[in-house]
Amino acid sequence: MLLQTHEKESGKPRNFVDKNVLSLKDVKKHFEGLKAVDGVDMTLNETEILGLIGPNGAGKTTLLNVISGLLMPNEGEIVFRGINITSLPAFKRAKLGIARTFQIAKPFGLLTVEENILVGLGCKLHGSISSLFQNCRKKEILQKAREIINLIGLYDCKDQLTSSLPIGLLRKLEIGRALATDPSLLLLDEPAAGLNNQERNELSELIREIREKGIPIILIEHTMSFVMNLSDRIVVLHRGRKIAEGSPSDVANDPLVIEVYLGRKGGKHAS
Ligand SMILES: Nc1ncnc2c1ncn2[C@@H]1O[C@H](COP(=O)(O)OP(=O)(O)OP(=O)(O)O)[C@@H](O)[C@H]1O
Ligand SMILES: [Mg+2]
Repeated sequence: MLLQTHEKESGKPRNFVDKNVLSLKDVKKHFEGLKAVDGVDMTLNETEILGLIGPNGAGKTTLLNVISGLLMPNEGEIVFRGINITSLPAFKRAKLGIARTFQIAKPFGLLTVEENILVGLGCKLHGSISSLFQNCRKKEILQKAREIINLIGLYDCKDQLTSSLPIGLLRKLEIGRALATDPSLLLLDEPAAGLNNQERNELSELIREIREKGIPIILIEHTMSFVMNLSDRIVVLHRGRKIAEGSPSDVANDPLVIEVYLGRKGGKHAS
């Protein structure tokens, strides 16, 4: 289905086909007695940015872990681009094109920005660390690394050790490393955490650019203005369950969402 009207509001690329790329059916993840994810149904369309929100402990990261394969679901089914990936380990899902960033950025601190990107590229292109080191200085690989470094806006500090980078640049580097694996789905866990307004605006631009390249994105975020402005659709989790789903404005006006989440005053969720 061509989304003639919606594309104007969302800024999606023109004439894209609204094709389902990911579907979750009744997905459950329990930690002993705790139902962290409790029967979630969810879909993601091609070139869509889906915001995943909810209070602390709602199950957002757990759901992302279940999609990326870091955790196996107890029940339910996950289909990615027509393939049932429910029981596939994380590395096989990565090979199929699922890439992610973590709530706490984890770069290789003793490597430079460029070397961090090269590791991501090498994993995709060469499969092993030893062949990566043999090949990483090849012209075409360096060129690809520079393209990604330019896209994330880190060219000026490409030779800097990542241990010395401020949080705003680290968050972009995390996204760059995920892009180096040539993903067809990007999962972002609180990429704007700890960023100031200017850094958040730059990150919004980057996320939009990535979507323009045809990569659908699931974005977990607590900062309401950030996630509401960026997302085409929002899913709200609370205590492991999906309590609302829809356009940012529908969700923002949902009484249940207001009660459990947006209505909080004074906390970080109210921003
Ligand atoms: N490995 C684990 N073992 C046991 N309990 C866990 C584990 N991971 C998460 N939980 C629990 O599952 C629930 C959901 O956690 P999760 O991290 O998914 O929430 P979240 O929505 O990402 O929260 P936040 O916004 O604070 O990041 C929480 O009660 C958490 O304590
Ligand atoms: Mg989390």
